[in-house]
Amino acid sequence: MDSILITGASTGLGREMALFLAERGFAVYATMRDASDAGSLLNDPRSSKGKLKVLPLDVTDTISIQRAVETIVAEAGGIYGVINNAGIGLRGYFEDLDSQDIRKMFDANLFGVMEVTRAVLPHMRPAKRGRILLISSVGGRIGSLGVSTYCSSKFALEGFGESLFMELAPLGIRVSLIEPGIIKTERWTINRGVAPRATDPRSPYYAWFMQSEREAEKLVQASTATPADVAAVVHQALTAETPKLRYMIGRKAKLAVALRRWLPGDLFERIYFGTVMRRATRAPGSPGVG
Ligand SMILES: NC(=O)c1ccc[n+]([C@@H]2O[C@H](COP(=O)([O-])OP(=O)(O)OC[C@H]3O[C@@H](n4cnc5c(N)ncnc54)[C@H](OP(=O)(O)O)[C@@H]3O)[C@@H](O)[C@H]2O)c1
Repeated sequence: MDSILITGASTGLGREMALFLAERGFAVYATMRDASDAGSLLNDPRSSKGKLKVLPLDVTDTISIQRAVETIVAEAGGIYGVINNAGIGLRGYFEDLDSQDIRKMFDANLFGVMEVTRAVLPHMRPAKRGRILLISSVGGRIGSLGVSTYCSSKFALEGFGESLFMELAPLGIRVSLIEPGIIKTERWTINRGVAPRATDPRSPYYAWFMQSEREAEKLVQASTATPADVAAVVHQALTAETPKLRYMIGRKAKLAVALRRWLPGDLFERIYFGTVMRRATRAPGSPGVG
């Protein structure tokens, strides 16, 4: 039975991937910062159909990464796949974001991914097989306002994944970037990550940010893609003989990226970015709007 390490499995996409893959016969090691939260995952009826274990792992803590990897290798005899899913958001116009919070986000979204990948590679190389999945985002392909540093962490992840793909393919280890659009998870509620200064009416960006949040919320409510859709794509990337470098999930995300690819010159920036900017700046009370 192939073993899979998933980071950030306490909620959202990571939790769904853990259940989805366990149901399909993988030995799933669902890791989370606080493993005392494991109960709701382990008690889920879907977890009993396969083999699912919970281990503590904080992607910003190298020792916890090493411990989890050692445990999996000792128990399962190796690691077939790693799903770098853990990540945090940070919302607000750039000037309203705190440098410490930005670093914290990069520690989880980028450097944490690198540390987990560094820890599993010595076990995948001798096996001459393995799958490394990076949960990126449509925000790793197209920037947006109010999420500049989140997008920059995911753009960085895209560069890492694309380069690693070339380094590791000759060794039989395949790298895939999974790029969801908006999916309803705790990311949009308790883990939204709104910067305190962004919601302070004294911020020069307050009206624009609040308007962009309302627009984002409309997109969240209208989104039809589900965590199970992401888990199904992850399953595909783990089981396809030759997995793709990139998998995108969500109709709107696919459309936006296709437009960027096919529109000539700077037409995409003028049409798409122009629309996003107009929607945010039409807020009552915005500078220039009255
Ligand atoms: N939902 C979307 O619309 C969407 C779209 C595109 C991409 N994504 C990406 O998908 C991934 C999962 O997001 P989600 O939607 O499932 O959000 P979520 O429910 O907020 O899940 C994020 C998970 O990451 C964990 N985490 C945060 N920092 C960590 C750390 N230092 N070490 C270990 N785990 C940590 C959280 O654990 P705690 O419970 O301990 O906080 C949580 O389990 C993220 O990388 C996100 O950027 C999501």
